Amino acid sequence: MTIEGRQTLLPRDPRRPDHRYAFLHRVVRTFTPVYIGKPARLVNCAAVPFHARPPDRRRLIFGVPRIDKCPIEVLTERPAARPRAAKADDAYDPSDRLRAPPGEAVGILDAKVAVVTGGASGIGRAVALRCAAEGASVVVADVQDAAAVVDAARAQRQQIDCRRVDVAASAEVAALMRDVCARHGRLDVLVCAAGISGGTGLTADYPEPDFDQVIGINLKGVFLAMKHAIPQMLHGGGGAIVNIASIAGLIGLRGTPAYAAAKGGVIQLTKVAAVEYAERNVRVNCICPGMIDTPMVQRLPASAQEGFVARQPLSRLGTPDEIAAAAVFLAGPASAFTTGAALVVDGGYTAL
Ligand SMILES: NC(=O)c1ccc[n+]([C@@H]2O[C@H](COP(=O)([O-])OP(=O)(O)OC[C@H]3O[C@@H](n4cnc5c(N)ncnc54)[C@H](O)[C@@H]3O)[C@@H](O)[C@H]2O)c1
Repeated sequence: MTIEGRQTLLPRDPRRPDHRYAFLHRVVRTFTPVYIGKPARLVNCAAVPFHARPPDRRRLIFGVPRIDKCPIEVLTERPAARPRAAKADDAYDPSDRLRAPPGEAVGILDAKVAVVTGGASGIGRAVALRCAAEGASVVVADVQDAAAVVDAARAQRQQIDCRRVDVAASAEVAALMRDVCARHGRLDVLVCAAGISGGTGLTADYPEPDFDQVIGINLKGVFLAMKHAIPQMLHGGGGAIVNIASIAGLIGLRGTPAYAAAKGGVIQLTKVAAVEYAERNVRVNCICPGMIDTPMVQRLPASAQEGFVARQPLSRLGTPDEIAAAAVFLAGPASAFTTGAALVVDGGYTAL
């Protein structure tokens, strides 16, 4: 969106809340310098409800329901050059997140709000950064400090918030989803990446407390996140959930009874929720990564990594970005007809 001088802007169909929301989000993102660091400055936003002025983005977003009564008058000092040209004859529909208005590049998660559990490290971190790069407002929920992810996003002029949350604690997860909706007005995307590897050991030798801990975080943690996120998504008209399962949930990996049981459970939870909520526009999918180069895998003995990679057709570790790309696909509109899927991203390991 590039404005020269003074213009009055209206959503294409002001009666539709999704049009109003996408429209206002785009205005705010384009003209709020602290948010995306653009040179254009919003001098006047005369008719926005509640007399809100950027950079008070929260107040603007909360004002969305009344925007139909209030066309926005925008006056910029210096229009920004946008990198990508769009077709001149394209009529811009602000509710269509795949298409950009003339002259504007748009992310495939533009105007979405995403929660990423386990986003402080490894796969979750890559997913959080990728979602932010695609235009989503991202909240990372992790037991670890996620300041480094927040800083990495800020360096790219993107925004990630973080919350300290234990996914195995129901009250903490419920409060997270409630707070995200109170702050951002909606919840569109949930990516469940929090997890631990747990110890290894044959089934008969596996310590019971370790089994409970792995199931509590890796399986119940996903259940709790979905349980508390789905009502918020339904309230906003739908959403997309992406659970990070594992190929350990598909095959019999020796010495991983708790981890494999949890990941198999995540695949089934995914399918059940996909069936339950398809009619109400919530899609639920999971990814089954093979061995990915993250701190979890870096803690394994080198021999374990080498043995795994040696029998894999694509003979290297996967990267967190390769899982993030799959997650963004499953979270975004390109996968609109995909639900209940377990997408295997494993360098061919399970194809043998
Ligand atoms: N790395 C792999 O090869 C691989 C393969 C298949 C599946 N996975 C799965 O991908 C997910 C991410 O793993 P990773 O490799 O990035 O590991 P990682 O250790 O780098 O990241 C896991 C993150 O989850 C967080 N976490 C752990 N327990 C938590 C809790 N109770 N509440 C909130 N956050 C918690 C950790 O603090 C960490 O930030 C996990 O679910 C893992 O099982 C990983």
